[in-house]
Amino acid sequence: MMESALTARDRVGVQDFVLLENHTSEVAFIENLRKRFKENLIYTYIGSVLVSVNPYKDLEIYTKQHMERYRGVNFYEVSPHIYAVSDNAYRSMRTERRDQCILISGESGAGKTEASKKVLQYYAVTCPASDKVQTVKDRLLQSNPVLEAFGNAKTLRNDNSSRFGKYMDIQFDFKGAPVGGHILNYLLEKSRVVHQSHGERNFHIFYQLIEGGEEDLLRRLGLERNAQQYQYLVKGNCPKVSSINDRNDWKVVRKALTVIGFTDDDVEELLNIIASVLHLGNVQYGSEESGNAYITTDSQIKYLSRLIGVDGSVLKEALTHKKIIAKGEELMSPLNQEQAASARDALSKAIYGRTFTWLVNKINASLEFKDSSFSSKNASVIGLLDIYGFEVFQNNSFEQFCINYCNEKLQQLFIELTLKSEQDEYEAEGITWEPVQYFNNKIICDLVEEKFKGIISILDEECLRPGDASDITFLEKLEDTVGGHPHFVTHKLADGKTRKVMGREEFRLLHYAGEVNYNVNGFLDKNNDLLFRNLKEAMCMSENKILTQCFDREELTDKKRPETAATQFKTSLAQLMEILMSKEPSYVRCIKPNDAKQAGRFDEVLIRHQVKYLGLMENLRVRRAGFAYRRRYETFLQRYKSLCPETWPNWQGRLVDGVSTLVKHLGYKPEEYKLGRTKIFIRFPKTLFATEDALEVRKHSLATKLQACWKGYSQKTKYRKLRRSAIVIQAWWRGILARRRAQRRRQAAETIRRFIKGFIYRHQPRCPENEYFLDYVRYSFLMKLSRNLPKNVLDKSWPTPPPALAEASEHLRKLCMQNMVWKYCKTISPEWKHQLEQKMVASEIFKDKKDNYPQSVPKLFVSTRLNGEDINPKVVQALGTDKMKYAVPVTKYDRKGYKARSRQLLLMGNSAIIAEEAKVKQRIDYSALKGISVSSLSDGVFVIHVVCEDNKQKGDVVLQSDHVIETLTKVAICADKINSINISQGSIKFTVGQGKEGIIDFTSGSELIVAKAKNGHLSVTAPRLNSR
Ligand SMILES: Nc1ncnc2c1ncn2[C@@H]1O[C@H](COP(=O)(O)OP(=O)(O)O)[C@@H](O)[C@H]1O
Ligand SMILES: [Mg+2]
Repeated sequence: MMESALTARDRVGVQDFVLLENHTSEVAFIENLRKRFKENLIYTYIGSVLVSVNPYKDLEIYTKQHMERYRGVNFYEVSPHIYAVSDNAYRSMRTERRDQCILISGESGAGKTEASKKVLQYYAVTCPASDKVQTVKDRLLQSNPVLEAFGNAKTLRNDNSSRFGKYMDIQFDFKGAPVGGHILNYLLEKSRVVHQSHGERNFHIFYQLIEGGEEDLLRRLGLERNAQQYQYLVKGNCPKVSSINDRNDWKVVRKALTVIGFTDDDVEELLNIIASVLHLGNVQYGSEESGNAYITTDSQIKYLSRLIGVDGSVLKEALTHKKIIAKGEELMSPLNQEQAASARDALSKAIYGRTFTWLVNKINASLEFKDSSFSSKNASVIGLLDIYGFEVFQNNSFEQFCINYCNEKLQQLFIELTLKSEQDEYEAEGITWEPVQYFNNKIICDLVEEKFKGIISILDEECLRPGDASDITFLEKLEDTVGGHPHFVTHKLADGKTRKVMGREEFRLLHYAGEVNYNVNGFLDKNNDLLFRNLKEAMCMSENKILTQCFDREELTDKKRPETAATQFKTSLAQLMEILMSKEPSYVRCIKPNDAKQAGRFDEVLIRHQVKYLGLMENLRVRRAGFAYRRRYETFLQRYKSLCPETWPNWQGRLVDGVSTLVKHLGYKPEEYKLGRTKIFIRFPKTLFATEDALEVRKHSLATKLQACWKGYSQKTKYRKLRRSAIVIQAWWRGILARRRAQRRRQAAETIRRFIKGFIYRHQPRCPENEYFLDYVRYSFLMKLSRNLPKNVLDKSWPTPPPALAEASEHLRKLCMQNMVWKYCKTISPEWKHQLEQKMVASEIFKDKKDNYPQSVPKLFVSTRLNGEDINPKVVQALGTDKMKYAVPVTKYDRKGYKARSRQLLLMGNSAIIAEEAKVKQRIDYSALKGISVSSLSDGVFVIHVVCEDNKQKGDVVLQSDHVIETLTKVAICADKINSINISQGSIKFTVGQGKEGIIDFTSGSELIVAKAKNGHLSVTAPRLNSR
């Protein structure tokens, strides 16, 4: 699918030189480069190395869409691009967790700096942003314009030539988000501050400030908007460059400074320094007759003094004198005009150089990731090396010597890692291999850096040695020491032809990238890099905050001689090599198509030269014959074992057999790989990519499976735990229940046993064997009693007590009855009481004696059966004041014929009255009442016996009442004759008057009949009652 994404244009020539048919032919190689360059295809691979040809024009290949296209895609699936290299490094860092570095090499102007910026932009856009440090991307990006303004300059080779080396670490967190950065800078070309070759410029910042600085800023700095006014800016005679817009760049830089975290004060202090360097350059000297220098431009001193905050007279003295310490005494020795000028320049260089270092530190502080939880251990790093490229000028000095030495070292690293070690490895692994010859530039590196014998050592020696050492004596020393070296020539040692193109003060090095003549003039000074002590002292007094950091007072007291510039550089390069070696490198090889910085011009000679010295042909040959990838068996097996059933999950046998099984299963063809001693070698990237893709797919399914397993496992574990807990609780609870049950059973058995025993011994006196039983019997009786107490006085039920409790039971029963009675009595009303009293009387008289008594019990006695209106008023009147207590209608039977007459019986306070209508027929005083007779049957007939002493008395009265019990009870009470009521069986005799007697006979029958019998008696037939 990716193949189809490539346009036809992308396929011009070959995208990878490895695919070149005639891969040993340099002509074919260059032809491929040319073809592609014509189509603006500036990128081509040699395996994983990216070859880039500077187009010198803006191509539409760096848009966001382009970045997206390369993101997360395999290297070879899209057309070659710097983004592909960037992405590859990023992914390797993420997947293999190895620090990476991208090494960009090529001569000056070949496009290294641009390439490094593209890489940085790619990361800034495509990497996830860390929420904690959102600003770091901006800062990383914005550090570039600032560093370029202060460290880049127009040279003959490049309008934006880096005049310092730069290695930048981009730090990523574990999620792959850039979180910080760190920059290492290498040897700034300070000499440019005071001098520029023809056609070159000073560092950009000077022009940017003068062109872009606001009016009042310039006024404050005492600057004019005219670069021609400044001695340090006119040497190259090149104030304007068409490709550079200083005014715009100023704005960019000014903004970038803010983004990086410079306050307005920081910027002001920084610009004060830049301006003071310009003012320093304009300090002019005159010569006194004595030859001593004096300053002719006081106005500059005034500005300087203000800008850097150092007293004017101190400055003036420092700029014209030199402090000598002789025999412990300090002496100020005046300088001549020339010495003074070089002291001034030395100061300018020192100020600028140190400020630049301060700037890098300041940027580093702003890029530093300050999260304490973030240690560099779990950070991954991608290093980006953009260092000055190999360069040759008409006149080459100490700086070029250093720059080119640096490039030798990088080339050495490249050779080490791509050509030499690769071939060594094939040999070590026992892979059949036809060695590829290549030029190893180690010999040149040694020539420059070897201890004691190398050029740097010799230079240092000349610098340090007492006596009249000069640049020339240095040259002579070189001739003496390394004169015989195949890569070293001087005018004196050269053959005739070479001699013609060499000056007498030059030495020539045959670099891997070409021959360069170095003029020894100034080598010693530049290497010494000395600043007079009194100038340092003056700077230490500065009130400028940046300068106080740059010039440390401790430096003044430090007696140790500082390392020379070349040695410092050598040491820092060695450290750089170590940093690079510790990381996995990616290479970008930049090629410059022409010297004129022109678009579309393909200078074949120039390009062939670069192809040659960059070793690209050898690189290709090794790559062609060799293998794109190698992995140790264990690594390979570990990574891909999931792709083959025999190796998954673990291979038990020898590693090599495992790998062999695995690749056979994957369908690798024999020509695609070789098995070495400890590693597998894979010839084509696409083979590995296919395997990677398969792994990606497999990983997903494995992940799902793992997830499922894990979920299952964790759920099961949870469930088991739950179950176990439940069982524990259950068992515990069951235990408790069982124990309780057992206990109860034991108790029950015990109780039963005691019970039985107690039952057996129940008749014995109380003893341990029966006490429980007896107690229980008592207890249960009492409990039963308490539950079944009689409800009322009539309820006579009472449980049978055990013998021991018979007495108590009786007491209780009485108490209970008393209590009930008492309770009952408490509740009864007076009327009811009265009623009951009468009932009591009735009971006393009639109970068990008269048949209709039981019937009368439930019937309430009434107070009277005749009210006031029922009784004739005349009778009432006749009775007078005596209160009537009871009245009832009765039937009276005559004494003679026993005729029944209706009468009223009225009970008064002292007598009973028998009334007929309005007449009081008979008054019986209670005192005269002898008694009352009544039968035992159910009839209502009774006889009131009266004392019959006088004849006025009519004799006994036979009456009949329907309420005989009530009536008689009332009479008995009223007359107080309770004991005088006699109940007779059979007949009643009564007196009729004048001594005559009558008899009443009682019999039982079906109904009440009262009549005169034939025998002259009154016969009463009482109805038989059912209850009897
Ligand atoms: N990829 C590119 N696209 C367009 N122009 C480029 C590209 N690479 C380099 N250039 C041009 O070449 C000039 C020099 O490139 P630079 O990266 O500064 O060279 P180096 O750092 O190798 O000395 C740049 O200023 C730019 O004009
Ligand atoms: Mg550069």
